[in-house]
Amino acid sequence: MALPSIIFASNNLHKANEIRAVLADLLSIQTLKEAGILIEIPEPHDTLEANASEKSGVINKLSGKNCFSEDSGLEVEALQGEPGVKSARYADNEPHYKNNIDKLLQKIKAVTDRTARFRTVISLQLDGQEYFFEGVCNGRITYTEKGEEGFGYDPVFIPDGASKTFAEMGMDEKNIYSHRKKATEKLVTFLKDYYDKN
Ligand code: IMP
Repeated sequence: MALPSIIFASNNLHKANEIRAVLADLLSIQTLKEAGILIEIPEPHDTLEANASEKSGVINKLSGKNCFSEDSGLEVEALQGEPGVKSARYADNEPHYKNNIDKLLQKIKAVTDRTARFRTVISLQLDGQEYFFEGVCNGRITYTEKGEEGFGYDPVFIPDGASKTFAEMGMDEKNIYSHRKKATEKLVTFLKDYYDKN
């Protein structure tokens, strides 16, 4: 059975494309722009969970429709989880991928333990209830940037089990390891079960 289409409360096309690659024919999503909702939603909180909830809550109230959002961050062990929830605006007030990477590499240039993880939290607003799903991808930070694909910190992150950065992988290869993919799969499993029962 096809699942009802749902709004993905984001304007980030990289994220939407990665999620669509995981969903294939199982579930169709509309980005905010595709749903005709032209706003930037703030991320004022200090946890991924609270920011994800803010985004899905705002869109749910505005549209009156079921929707989901996600918030993701890179957590570096040697920096006690930094940049974490501040990943998008680590270097500047404006989101700037290159400056963020430069700041990160500079901060850990003398650190040999490069352990890090990406974490995604999805917040789903469904028929008046909120549900959360988490996905984690463990890996390490490189010393230099490699690759042109993807976005954000992809050029400096190698997932465990791989020998190249996310930015050296196509989307399907990134999705073998991806934090976002793991959280999205949990969302789909939940929705299938929910609509089977309701
Ligand atoms: P947000 O979830 O839109 O707040 O984005 C958080 C930030 O984390 C992004 O701007 C990226 O810098 C970074 N980020 C999140 N997911 C990924 C990813 O899959 N690859 C690389 N960077 C990511």
